[in-house]
Amino acid sequence: MNTLTVINAKGGCGKSTIAMSLAAGLSLQGKRVLLMDLDPQAQVTQWLSAGDGLRPEGTLVSALTGQQSLSDVIQPTGYANIWFVASSAGLEDLGREISANDGYPTMLTELLARESVADRFDFLVIDSPNQISPIMENAIFPADAFVIPFESTKAVKSYASVYQLLLKLRPNGDYKLLHVLSNLTRLPGLRRRVLALLADDKLEPAKSEIRSCGWLAQVDEYGGSIFHFRPHSNGAEDMKALVEEAIALFDNGQTAHPEMPRIAA
Ligand SMILES: Nc1ncnc2c1ncn2[C@@H]1O[C@H](COP(=O)(O)OP(=O)(O)O)[C@@H](O)[C@H]1O
Ligand SMILES: [Mg+2]
Repeated sequence: MNTLTVINAKGGCGKSTIAMSLAAGLSLQGKRVLLMDLDPQAQVTQWLSAGDGLRPEGTLVSALTGQQSLSDVIQPTGYANIWFVASSAGLEDLGREISANDGYPTMLTELLARESVADRFDFLVIDSPNQISPIMENAIFPADAFVIPFESTKAVKSYASVYQLLLKLRPNGDYKLLHVLSNLTRLPGLRRRVLALLADDKLEPAKSEIRSCGWLAQVDEYGGSIFHFRPHSNGAEDMKALVEEAIALFDNGQTAHPEMPRIAA
């Protein structure tokens, strides 16, 4: 199983839209996908009509507190090949509570391992909260690759704090990064400033970019994913390219944890 975590410490940069679209796009390529909502705001949970976002039963909160097993809270979605773990508001308080325990950042990783989730899915896609938090740390630990959306210069600045957290939690650097421009084509000046800031930080943008697309914004109203809602839109085309780029991260004959190259003396 390859784990993709969509992350940045900035609300509104496109994380949930990308997480939902990645899961849907991967499923349409025949991959068995588990999508997990780690955002207490439960955006994806609402798009999938997978809970009221309030009660903890049947959600990740129940699994992290040991009330239910992780397998018990994995639910079908009505879409072929996509299974889902819902979020609820209590996740935020739970994050504060678990931070008192040693080793709390690996709680989710341990649940995944204990229940052999990796044998049941080809991809795990995780949507993250909007702030640095203990729950975000749990989204960081299991990831083989991070997808980081940038919709503003603020998002580039927020990424600096996420990157510090990556360095702290994953010092081996055994992960891949996709820096994705998101919803910037409607504002070419801002897009140029974001690109300049990324270049200052020597961050290479991904090949795929998610153009501004009114249909993508409307998925919020209708739920599901852009592939189901408007399969012939720019949004669906861009998300398909991102899905292919994400798959290629793992298909190049490279593993998610490549050996360090040997450098001749
Ligand atoms: N490429 C895009 N074009 C137009 N609107 C977008 C695009 N990507 C995201 N949006 C809209 O921007 C808002 C924030 O996106 P969302 O995915 O919820 O961000 P986050 O999860 O980072 O808070 C939503 O209303 C969403 O519909
Ligand atoms: Mg979100």
